[in-house]
Amino acid sequence: MGTTETPPRRASPENPLRIAVLISGGGSGLLALLKYQSEEIRCHKTVLVLSDKEDAGGLEHGRNKGITTKAIPLPPIGDKKEQRSAHEELVQKELENSQVEFVVLSGYMRIFTPWFVRIWKGRMVNIHPSLLPHFPGAHPHRDVISSGVSTTGCTVHLVDEGVDTGPIIAQREVPVLTGDNEFSLQERVKNLEHELYPETIDKYCLGKITL
Ligand code: GRF
Repeated sequence: MGTTETPPRRASPENPLRIAVLISGGGSGLLALLKYQSEEIRCHKTVLVLSDKEDAGGLEHGRNKGITTKAIPLPPIGDKKEQRSAHEELVQKELENSQVEFVVLSGYMRIFTPWFVRIWKGRMVNIHPSLLPHFPGAHPHRDVISSGVSTTGCTVHLVDEGVDTGPIIAQREVPVLTGDNEFSLQERVKNLEHELYPETIDKYCLGKITL
């Protein structure tokens, strides 16, 4: 871990780490994490679900569990830079209000500014559906198929100022099969993500992963 990163507090089942999950869409990853957290006593619990999209299907998963769940759409500000900063300030306010200690990006489709990244460095993770550093960006499955590689997978990494570039915490592989399309590949990788992400968050929060 670099010197600018603050690792999460060493959590325990008696004093679990307070997690916020940020989503933009269907939230199948959020649902998998909530299931994982409800199966056994864990060292982390989800206290806040945020989405940048008001119609994100995944918001239901937070509401169904009685977790504070909010959509924070982009505020109506014409200047894009100001709008982005104002939006992140709103997100940060919600994180502070819920005394969040650790941020989990789960299909959150926005890139944070260096201001926000600095606040959470070492305490914000993302999952990307490829074997980084290969196939970063918004269309990894399409890129995997058109490249002809025979193996893909998913990567859990700390978030830094780049796009899908932060220190890698965990990866898992899955084969690309003959006849795969973007959809079939996405489903296979998502099933893998739903195992890897909760397990990795668990280990990281318990201090079992050192970078
Ligand atoms: C996941 O594949 C995640 O890795 C990617 O977006 C997808 C989100 O899916 N960044 P869901 O909203 O959790 O169903």
